[in-house]
Amino acid sequence: MFRYLPEQASEHAPRVDWLHHLVTDISVFFTVAIVGAMVYFAIRYRQRGGVDHETPQIRGSHFLEVIWTVVPTIICIFIAYYGVVIFRDMRRVDPNGLSINVYAQKWKWDFEYENGKRTTGEVVVPVDQSVRFVMTSADVLHSFFIPAMRVKSDVIPGGRHTYISFKPVKTGEYQSFCTEYCGASHSRMLAKLRVVSRAEYDRWVNDKTEKAMAPAEKGKLLYNQKGCNACHSVDGSRVVGPTFQGLWGREEKLADGASVKVDENYLTQSIYDPNSQIVATYPANVMPSFKDQLSSEEVNAIIAFIKTLDGSVAAAPAPAAAEAVVDTAALSPAERGKKIYQGKLCISCHSLDGSKIVGPSFKGLYGRAGKLSDGSSYTADDAYIKNSILNPTSQVVEGYPPAMPPYQGQLSDGDIADVIEFLKTVK
Ligand code: CUA
Repeated sequence: MFRYLPEQASEHAPRVDWLHHLVTDISVFFTVAIVGAMVYFAIRYRQRGGVDHETPQIRGSHFLEVIWTVVPTIICIFIAYYGVVIFRDMRRVDPNGLSINVYAQKWKWDFEYENGKRTTGEVVVPVDQSVRFVMTSADVLHSFFIPAMRVKSDVIPGGRHTYISFKPVKTGEYQSFCTEYCGASHSRMLAKLRVVSRAEYDRWVNDKTEKAMAPAEKGKLLYNQKGCNACHSVDGSRVVGPTFQGLWGREEKLADGASVKVDENYLTQSIYDPNSQIVATYPANVMPSFKDQLSSEEVNAIIAFIKTLDGSVAAAPAPAAAEAVVDTAALSPAERGKKIYQGKLCISCHSLDGSKIVGPSFKGLYGRAGKLSDGSSYTADDAYIKNSILNPTSQVVEGYPPAMPPYQGQLSDGDIADVIEFLKTVK
C-alpha cells in the first residue's frame, strides 16, 4: 500500500521490506477498519430529535471473543516468526566475506581494510560479495546506518565491537549516516559507501600510491577524508571550529587573550596539539590530536589548501605538467576503457558512430543480440565481449571476416572490465 522505502541495494533488503510492508499494511487495514466503524456508528446512532437511543444489553459472545483473540495472535506470531528468521539471516556472517574495521570518532568514520589500507568518510566494497563491518567507537555512542543496504547498528565505545553484515547487489554510491546524537557535528558525520565491480575494487584496494597531486589539491582531499569538514567550513559559516575561509594570515584572538598570526607553525600546532591554542569563543577539548594521523607532508598539504581559501583567489590552477602525467587510477573505468580502445588500436577496426569498418561498430554494442557466422545467436554481455577480445575467431559475427587477432596476454581482466564499462557508454 504505502511504498516509500529507499532503493534496495543489498541481498536481504527485499525481505526486510516485505516484512516491513506487511506490518504497515496490516496496521493501516485495522486502523481504517476500527476508526471507520467508530465514525460510522457515531453518526448512525447519534442522538436525534432530543431522543436517546437506549443501548441494548448484550451479554458476552464466546464466538466473537475467540475470533478476535485467536486471529490477531496468529498474525503476531507470524510476524514475530518471520522477523526472527530474517534477522537471523541478516546477522549471519559469511566466513569468506570481506571484513572491514570501522572506527567512529567525533565526527568522522574511519575504515581499515585487511591489507592495511585506510580511508575516512568513504568506504569501497565489491559488488556481489558479503561484507562485514566490525565497528567500535573511540569516544561516545554513534550509530552506523546505510539505508539502501538496510543495515544499522550502534557503535559503542570502551572496547566493545558491534558488526553489520550485508551483500551489496548493485554498484553505485550510497549515503550512510550517524543516527545516534553524538554532539555538535552529529549531522555532518557522514560517509559514502561506494559499491564497485570486482576488478575496480581490486585495483582500488591495492592502490596505495598517493597520486601525483598538487599539495593544495591533496590538502582538499585530506580535508574531506580526515573529517576536518565536519567542524571547519570553507564558506565562512561557523560550525564547531573556526572556518577555514580567509583563515590564512589572519590575526587570531585566543581564549587566553593573546593573539597569534595564522602561519604554518600556528596551523601545524593546531592540528597536532589543538588544545594548546584555543581560539576565543570556541570550546576546548573538542578537536582530537591528528599527530598520529597526518604526516608533516599531509599537514603541509592542508596548509596549502587553506591558503587557497582566502576568499579572493580561486584554488590554484592545476599545474600544466599534471596534464602529461596520466594517472589511470584517477580515471573512471569507462575513461580507462576508452584509453585502451585508442591505445590498443581497437579504434582502427571498430567505429563508435555505427559505421562499419572491419569489425562491428561499438555503437550500441553492449546488450545487442545478433547472429554469428555459424548460425548460432549471441547477446553482447560481459562474457561474450570478454571472449571476443581474448579469443575473437571463436565467435565471428555474421557478415564479418575472422580478422581480429586474439588479445590474450595483452589485456588483463581489469583492462577488459574497463573496456566493457566504456562500451556501455557508447550508445
Ligand atoms: Cu556520531 Cu552522531
